[in-house]
Amino acid sequence: MELLKQAIMEKGSVISEGVLKVDHFLNHQIDTNLMIAIGKEFADKFKSNQITKVLTLESSGIAPSFMAAQDLSVPLVFARKRKSITMNEDVYSSMVYSFTKEVTNEISVSKSFLSYGDRVLIIDDFLANGQAALGLANIVEQAGAKVSGIGIVIEKSFQEGRMKLEEAGYRVESLARIQSLHNGKVSFLEESAL
Ligand code: G4P
Ligand code: NA
Ligand code: NA
Repeated sequence: MELLKQAIMEKGSVISEGVLKVDHFLNHQIDTNLMIAIGKEFADKFKSNQITKVLTLESSGIAPSFMAAQDLSVPLVFARKRKSITMNEDVYSSMVYSFTKEVTNEISVSKSFLSYGDRVLIIDDFLANGQAALGLANIVEQAGAKVSGIGIVIEKSFQEGRMKLEEAGYRVESLARIQSLHNGKVSFLEESAL
């Protein structure tokens, strides 16, 4: 997605060989026009899949998912990382290990918001090692629902996330695929190289 690549080049900053900072438009300040375009792009890619729910993970997954759900005319559900005091009903939960942060978080979704027969589009801001997406997929499957696909805003193609998700049989659509962050420079995976 050209508009997204442009934002990454112009406003992103490479923090290390492995980490890209995009606080100007995605993880802290939000570029709402860009988020609308991103959401529409996801909706477009999955419009023939009869999606019934969009599922993401708080907090940074919510903005790029919002317009996707709106455009597909389905509810947006976000998994929580902390248990809410009002979330005392039954939940589906999954343990997600973050290699970046070296912590394990329990993520959960109330059983009220995912049902048998749902066809779910999972969306997240970053794909690194795939643990968050696998945790979300696990929650979908606990509900007896189907993962129809996984939409990612920024994929770090040099990490193993995509491979893990594809191995598990999921369709992955990433709007920007980063081949490397060597020497402080972002290199995208060119479509012709795929
Ligand atoms: P994984 O799910 O693919 O295995 O990723 P990992 O555990 O490594 O990611 C942990 C957190 O770091 C996630 O955010 C993820 O979106 C984010 N992240 C991973 N790689 C990058 C990167 O290169 N740049 C930025 N900016 N973020 C990255 P989170 O803890 O869920 O936070 P939130 O922003 O959603 O609240
Ligand atoms: Na994040
Ligand atoms: Na995230």
